[in-house]
Amino acid sequence: MKILAFNWKLNPLTEREALSLSSLSDRKDVILFPPAVFLDAIVQRTKRAEVGVQNLFWEAEGAFTGELSPVMAKSLGVRWALVGHSERRRYFEETDEMVNKKIKAAFAAGLNVILCVGEPRSVRERGIRAARAFIRKQLVSDLSGIRSSEFKGRDLAIAYEPIWAISEGAAHHPSDTPKDSAEMAKFIKQTLSPKPYPLNPKVLYGGSVNAKNIAAFLRPKEIDGVLIGGASLQKKELVKILSTKS
Ligand code: PGA
Repeated sequence: MKILAFNWKLNPLTEREALSLSSLSDRKDVILFPPAVFLDAIVQRTKRAEVGVQNLFWEAEGAFTGELSPVMAKSLGVRWALVGHSERRRYFEETDEMVNKKIKAAFAAGLNVILCVGEPRSVRERGIRAARAFIRKQLVSDLSGIRSSEFKGRDLAIAYEPIWAISEGAAHHPSDTPKDSAEMAKFIKQTLSPKPYPLNPKVLYGGSVNAKNIAAFLRPKEIDGVLIGGASLQKKELVKILSTKS
């Protein structure tokens, strides 16, 4: 079963719209990442899809105004945490060190993790070898010190999202090619297959996936699913995405 993960980012504006999107997407192969204020309502109403937080803090409780506790999320019935999304790294200055602490906190709270990695355009322009080196460095730093024992019973997936391929509202961004992203997925699996990462994580592709190109991204055996932003918020697109055979 290939995974369809939907990252709604800071959308939609109302709980009603959020519930309407989640009821359309309520399937076993779907993981929903709604804004935190809608988590409870969505967890209550979904039967098959799993639900995740788009971000979390590395402490469970305390004097940290405005933060989101992994333990509190877990107690609501949340199963997943998206960690290290490029928008968080960019707009909120999340470092690899912070990403690493967040992964540890998510696992400690009993959440599964989708770790997002991806190279900027300037790196990709230097070629595929430079992009691989960048991704390897991110993986090694982000997963540093995380022992296989900490992975036990948890799922770790890596979302490969080249930054230049992530859409930003109306601007048109081309996705990566299915061939190149499948090669990167293979590289990520190879990088993480020896100890101390024996879990063989699933690798998802993300970045301008839509109803037209999803089938091509789900075809390669190296790609275990997709992480979709903008297109998962448009009902017509969503219906087509959900009807794609994987
Ligand atoms: P996009 O976003 O599908 O709108 O490009 C993907 C993501 O940022 O996770």
